[in-house]
Amino acid sequence: MAEARIIDGKSFAAGLRARIGRQVAVLKARHGIIPGLAAVLVGDDPASQVYVRSKEKQTAEAGMASVGRRLAADTSQEALLTIVNALNTDPAVHGILVQLPLPDQIDTRAIIEAVDPAKDVDGFHPINVGRLVNGEDALAPCTPVGCAMMLKDVLGDLSGLNAVIVGRSTIVGKPMAQLLLAENCTVTVAHSRTRDLPAVCRNADILVAAVGRAQMIKGDWIKPGATVIDVGINRIEAPEKGVGKTRLVGDVAFDEAVQVAGAITPVPGGVGPMTIACLLQNTLVACCRQNGIDVPDDPGE
Ligand code: GUN
Repeated sequence: MAEARIIDGKSFAAGLRARIGRQVAVLKARHGIIPGLAAVLVGDDPASQVYVRSKEKQTAEAGMASVGRRLAADTSQEALLTIVNALNTDPAVHGILVQLPLPDQIDTRAIIEAVDPAKDVDGFHPINVGRLVNGEDALAPCTPVGCAMMLKDVLGDLSGLNAVIVGRSTIVGKPMAQLLLAENCTVTVAHSRTRDLPAVCRNADILVAAVGRAQMIKGDWIKPGATVIDVGINRIEAPEKGVGKTRLVGDVAFDEAVQVAGAITPVPGGVGPMTIACLLQNTLVACCRQNGIDVPDDPGE
């Protein structure tokens, strides 16, 4: 069998960001509105700093306003709540993202629940979680939204397909299940207690790996021709690159899986770039809803 098609998340995301940029330009010209995204970073975790910087750069590139709030690692919960409340009432801010994880002195749940659900572009607020489950208009978490978009691009109609999601996190696994259910998939959510995980995976037309374990899903767990979406980002040692060197790998053993699957996302360059593009999309949608207008059609290139 031929090798799988490699799903190029990097170019897919670039196309999506370009489209959002054109829609933002229409919004500006027609209504004088500039969507604004606030990113709040507490502390100096290097990975979080990289994410937030990248979000801010891409927000500006799409023609949106980027509001940054950098706070010291010892910021109190009360101080963070005050900032979130100020952003909630700021009319220039349409989306609020509080970068996770937060330092230990802060109750993450209390912060998530303090964000105005209309501005919750992460889709973490219980109101948005409930709306997603109910099939109502929700802001849904960016990573699974990006995965669903790539799946529809590769497969077209997903109706009736068996989708297996490995991992039941609040940020990826659970919302992914809801999004695929909304696309009429038959959804199985597998996790660490699942019996005979390889057999469950082998039943999947769509396999979404979101467990955070390097190369856990092997080639012979995959149904020939299946579409594999690898959400994992794991750093492993790479002695072949030199002493002390590392590289990024997904939750899927890519070299094996690519021989069996019909299509597969690489790591890096698959799901990752789609997440920020979907954050920008959520910000555009949130902005239009807050202003009582439809999201403008893409005027084209
Ligand atoms: N940290 C890692 N992923 C995410 C995400 O999607 N949103 C936020 N706010 N923090 C994160």
